[in-house]
Amino acid sequence: MKATAIRVDINSPLDPKSGKILDEWRIKEAVKSLKKYEGVPVVVMAHQGRPGGEDFTSLVEHARVLRKYLEQTEFVEDIIGPTARVRIKELNEGEILLLDNVRFLSEELLEAPPEVLATTHFVQRLAPLFETFINDAFATAHRGQTSLVGFSEVLPSYAGPLMEKELSSLNKVLLNPELPVIFLIGGAKAGTKLELINHLLNNKKTEKVLASGFIGHFFLKAKGIRLGEATEKRLKNGELLNLAKTILKQHGNAIEVPIDVAVNKKGERTEIQVQSLPSEYEILDIGSETIDSYNSIIQSAGTICINGPAGYFEEKAFAHGTEQLITTIAESRAFSVIGGGHLSVVAMKLGYYDRIDHVSTGGGATLAYLAGEELPVIEALRRAYQRDGREFLF
Ligand code: 3PG
Ligand code: MG
Repeated sequence: MKATAIRVDINSPLDPKSGKILDEWRIKEAVKSLKKYEGVPVVVMAHQGRPGGEDFTSLVEHARVLRKYLEQTEFVEDIIGPTARVRIKELNEGEILLLDNVRFLSEELLEAPPEVLATTHFVQRLAPLFETFINDAFATAHRGQTSLVGFSEVLPSYAGPLMEKELSSLNKVLLNPELPVIFLIGGAKAGTKLELINHLLNNKKTEKVLASGFIGHFFLKAKGIRLGEATEKRLKNGELLNLAKTILKQHGNAIEVPIDVAVNKKGERTEIQVQSLPSEYEILDIGSETIDSYNSIIQSAGTICINGPAGYFEEKAFAHGTEQLITTIAESRAFSVIGGGHLSVVAMKLGYYDRIDHVSTGGGATLAYLAGEELPVIEALRRAYQRDGREFLF
């Protein structure tokens, strides 16, 4: 029996000193998928970091963690060489072989259309050893890289279980949501997130946007409120400020901004009203009145999607806003989706992970999907389904 190849995303935060994996979340999600292929020989392909980055390493640690949950996991320090190919051919039913970081191959990062990537040594050497290709790497669906879109050109290909759950959950938010739909947008990546808000409101995908984090700061500043240099030094991008102003002009009624904030006064959380700004201290969270007001909007929602923390949640004193919002979302009756890695950590810590309908494993991929972008991996899968006369339901 030939092996089934599965591309997963187990790109994980690493401790820069020890190289140990700091958060096993994506690996655990991959384990749930891998369990569905028990009884067949499975070859797992994945990446870690980017060339030149501190976290660009071998997957040997990932294999160690995988083995905790699936003891039949083996690792080979090779991708397309003879060692890997011999092991793939010998693989028995029920065995799992993790290949090394696919980004070690320069061909992984070639910029070319899928049909060209299908002619790489990478695909040409491995594809004949595989029965089918499963793409389960939703978190990398916004990349058109060889392992992500090349194999589906030449092999019968399927969306994996996590890919299906990601797409059906995000589609439920975007295409047939229970109304009203509320988006909570916080955190950094202000450019991407302001574009997302603009897209959602222009396309009537949400009734309300509750802004916090840097996004909240940009909107406050766009309303002419002076926040103080300690906060504004991080908001120097004039283009983003103009975008925030445009969004407010067109959709002002749909955007909720903080009415009070928490600043870091010499290490202490101190709440102040937005009317009393500017402050010489940096704003690191939303305040209690904002939390109450956002909570009551959340309680009336039919669908909730939250992306990005409300404040500097890494520090206990400023995690309050984020934790309160996640708690209300978990306890609400609405269909709820968390996008992005930081908030999954918070939901897990609070014991609410399983009370959120879907915790997306994607960062950039989730934002791009919500913003209506065509993702190369989804396109490649759609083409493969059509080629084989199967219906692609996403
Ligand atoms: C991620 O963590 O965002 C994904 O694994 C994609 O990684 P990339 O941004 O390096 O392509
Ligand atoms: Mg990324």
